Amino acid sequence: MSNIVSKNPTNLSDVIVELPAATSDEIVAAAKRAKAAQKAWAAMPAPARGRVIANVGRLVEANKESLAKLVTREMGKVYAEALGEVQEVIDTCDFFLGEGRRMYGQTVPSEMPNKNLFTFRMPVGSTLIITAGNFPAAVPSWYIVPALLTGNSVIWKPAEFTPAVANALTAIFHAGGVPKDILITLVAEGATTFEAMDKCLSLGLINKVGFTGSTEVGRKIGAKTGEYIQSACLELGGKNPMVVMPDANLDLVLEGALFAGFGTAGQRCTSLGTLWLHESIYDAFLARYAETVANAKVGDPMKDVLFGPMISEKYLENHLKNLAMIQKHHTVLGSTGVGRITKENPRAGFVGDPEAGVFAHPTIVAGITKDDELYATETFGPLVTVGKFKTIEEAIELSNGHGYGLSCAIYSSDPKTIWTYREGVSAGMMSVNNSTSGAEAHLPFGGNGKSGNGSRQSGVWVLDQFTRWQSLNWDWSGKLQKAQMDTVEVAHNPNFRIAE
Ligand code: UN1
Repeated sequence: MSNIVSKNPTNLSDVIVELPAATSDEIVAAAKRAKAAQKAWAAMPAPARGRVIANVGRLVEANKESLAKLVTREMGKVYAEALGEVQEVIDTCDFFLGEGRRMYGQTVPSEMPNKNLFTFRMPVGSTLIITAGNFPAAVPSWYIVPALLTGNSVIWKPAEFTPAVANALTAIFHAGGVPKDILITLVAEGATTFEAMDKCLSLGLINKVGFTGSTEVGRKIGAKTGEYIQSACLELGGKNPMVVMPDANLDLVLEGALFAGFGTAGQRCTSLGTLWLHESIYDAFLARYAETVANAKVGDPMKDVLFGPMISEKYLENHLKNLAMIQKHHTVLGSTGVGRITKENPRAGFVGDPEAGVFAHPTIVAGITKDDELYATETFGPLVTVGKFKTIEEAIELSNGHGYGLSCAIYSSDPKTIWTYREGVSAGMMSVNNSTSGAEAHLPFGGNGKSGNGSRQSGVWVLDQFTRWQSLNWDWSGKLQKAQMDTVEVAHNPNFRIAE
């Protein structure tokens, strides 16, 4: 049995927690307990479950600073962003505590007299939630909170990189009144989880899988759940375009492209992929962007910096692989080096000791074209590609051409251009004069194509992931009325015309 060791990416000698990885048998056994407990949880009135979510939200609020500190310590995002992430958990609880008193179904008119039609939301049953390390608290809450509220049990497999945040958040859920067997958190390796998922699906122990992570793993989970006639909720990668028109407010673009590109060290699924600049502003704006990135502070995430370390060495390795895709026709800008920041490969103005942790130079790769490997690769690190375009039609083609469709942004002051872009772009989320990242917690979140299978999280939209519609027809006429056959016909005159 292997151990999972979680280290602070700012200072690798700081071991946060070391714990044994759950085995496949342990996951299956937990799924059995969660399934057995689910019926009683679902039988509880939804407003009572809403109260539990309210308790959880209050507890997260009361623990906001300590949880945010743990997020920064374990995952490495800057403290201000970590506070924002914890706030996103609170916002999610705020939204769903009231849903306990709604969870509306419908009354629907029947085509026959003395008959009533209704719809009810039914919990799917037992769920398996597998989440990534970049948002160790907020994104899991997008699944766990609505899943619990609607009467499901949850097995949560958090990222191997952030078990301490997962355990802290789980303890808060339990303290808020969620029964121990209704939310079971198991830290496990990816391959073990996949094997256990297959077993659980074959035994009927899991009725919904929610997954946030890479397109590659999402494809496998989608295929496996499909074998069992289930559709997973998949929130996958992105190569999010930001299109800048000549009439854009360039000060705003600068701020937006800095945050979207390098906030969270570029490790958001909504991070900026390619900055597409109109050819008329390309040279001047690229120079400004490169200078701003070159002067930004990088380093200790508890200090006032643009970004801190990468989540772990594995993420840094992946970043280095992506850097190998840079070609001769590209121009590299934004720092005093590329790759890992070390004493030999320093970053001017670095805050702290780069060699204690896993830090990477911010990198701008300019001169990107749609034939480049980097055009279609989600880089998930502090790497922004920059290219140029002539027309809005071309910008739309470039935005869609790689097959991802998560988030996108356009900067312009012309409504016609903005609406044209909205109609043509394939992304599930679009920002106007705003960053590609930083979605609010109550709008539908999700993507199309390689970014997801059309499922949406957040707000009322996620209810369709964790409930299934049950329709009811109730005939009280005292006889068998046959749909489509015993319907009421009203006499009418189809030849009627107004006299001229
Ligand atoms: C993610 O990276 O998986 O919109 C989610 C955002 C955040 C969530 C990102 N609210 O950038």
